[in-house]
Amino acid sequence: MASQIQPHSPRQPIAVGILGATGAVGQRFVQLLADNPWFQITALAASERSTGQRYAEACTWRLSSDCPVAVRDLPVQPCEPGLDCQIVFSALPSSAAREVEEQFAAAGYGVLSNASTHRMDADVPLLIPEVNPDHLGLIEVQRQRRGWGKGFIVTDPNCSTVGATLALKPLYDAFGVRRAVITTMQALSGAGYPGVPALDILDNVIPYIGGEEDKLVHEPRKLLGAWSPEEGRVIPAELRISPSCNRVATRDGHLETISVEFERRVGVDDVITALRDFRSVPYALGCPSAVEPTIVVRQEPDRPQTRIDRDAGRGMAITVGRVRPCEVLDAKFVVLAHNTIRGAAGGSILNAELMIARGMIA
Ligand SMILES: NC(=O)c1ccc[n+]([C@@H]2O[C@H](COP(=O)([O-])OP(=O)(O)OC[C@H]3O[C@@H](n4cnc5c(N)ncnc54)[C@H](OP(=O)(O)O)[C@@H]3O)[C@@H](O)[C@H]2O)c1
Repeated sequence: MASQIQPHSPRQPIAVGILGATGAVGQRFVQLLADNPWFQITALAASERSTGQRYAEACTWRLSSDCPVAVRDLPVQPCEPGLDCQIVFSALPSSAAREVEEQFAAAGYGVLSNASTHRMDADVPLLIPEVNPDHLGLIEVQRQRRGWGKGFIVTDPNCSTVGATLALKPLYDAFGVRRAVITTMQALSGAGYPGVPALDILDNVIPYIGGEEDKLVHEPRKLLGAWSPEEGRVIPAELRISPSCNRVATRDGHLETISVEFERRVGVDDVITALRDFRSVPYALGCPSAVEPTIVVRQEPDRPQTRIDRDAGRGMAITVGRVRPCEVLDAKFVVLAHNTIRGAAGGSILNAELMIARGMIA
C-alpha cells in the first residue's frame, strides 16, 4: 500500500542534463524542470547543429512562458557521456537514441527516455508511475544483463498510449478488459518541430501517423502486464487493441475515443466510479509532479475538449468524459491527455521522481 511506504526526497536538488534540449519535448523538459524543487538543470545537449552555442541562441523557444533565465547561457554540448549531471532526460529522435542512451547508461548515468527505441526491450521498464510502479523491478535485471553498475534506462510510453492506458488501468483492474477500439485525434506538437507542413494540415485531417498504431497495440499490454520477480520479466496483459491514429490541426493535446469490452457485465455508473476512485501512488509518495485526481471525470455532454481541458492538473491529469454504453462493445468514452507534458516530458520527470521517492536515485 502506498500509504505504508516511507518515501525519500532529495536533500539537495539532483543535477540533471537534457539530451535533445532544443526540440519540442526538450523545451518542455527545460520549462518543467526549471520549476521543480527536486532537480537542477546543469547540462543541455543537442545535435551538431546546436553544439557550441548558448542555449538561448541554439534554441528557438516556442512555449508560451519565457525561456528560464537559469538556462539561457548554458552551452549546448554534444550528446556524449561526460556531461556534468547524475541523470539525463532524453528527448532524442529514436534514430539517435539507441546508441546515445546506451552509452550514457553504460557510463553510469540514469537515463529517463521519451524515445521509442528501448520501450519494448524485455529488460527496460516502460513506466507510468500511477499504472505500473512495480515494473521498476526490471532495473536489477537490466543491470545484470547489460553489465551496467549505477546506470539504467527507464522509458515512458508513446504520447497516445499514456492517455489510453491511464484510463484503462482502473477498468482493467476492476472488471478486466478484453478488447478496446481506439481512435485518436493527435495534436501537431506530437510531430516535433517544424513537424507537418502547414499546407498539409490546414483544412485537413491526416488519417495516418507512421508507427503510431503499432505502439498503441503493444505498449498498453506491457504497461498493464504483471511483474514477475521470480521470472524477472513482465508478463503482458491479454487485452487486444484496435487503434486508428489521426493527425488533426490542434497545437497540444491528444483526444481519443475508446470503446471497451469487459470480462463481465458492467454498468456505466460502475465505470465512472472506478475512474473517479483511482488514486495515484506517486502523489501519495509526495512526488512534486504528481496530481490528484490523475483522472478528471467530466459529466458535461461536450467535454473533454482539447483547448479547454488539456492543461488539467498542470497538464499531468488526463480528462475522461462522455462515459456511456457502447452499441457494439460494452462502454465508450473520450480521453484527453497533454502530449508534451503528460505524454512526454512531464511523464519522464514523474518517472524520475518515483525512483527518488523509492530510494532508487539518491
Ligand atoms: N512531441 C511529442 O509530443 C512527443 C511525445 C512523446 C514522445 N516523443 C518523442 O520524444 C523525442 C523527441 O521528440 P520532439 O518532438 O521533441 O523532436 P524534435 O522537436 O525534432 O527535437 C529533436 C531534438 O533532438 C536533437 N537531435 C536530433 N538529432 C540528433 C542527433 N543525431 N544527435 C543528437 N541530438 C539530436 C535535436 O537537436 P537540434 O535542435 O540541434 O537539431 C533536438 O534537440 C522523439 O523520440 C519523439 O518520438 C515526442
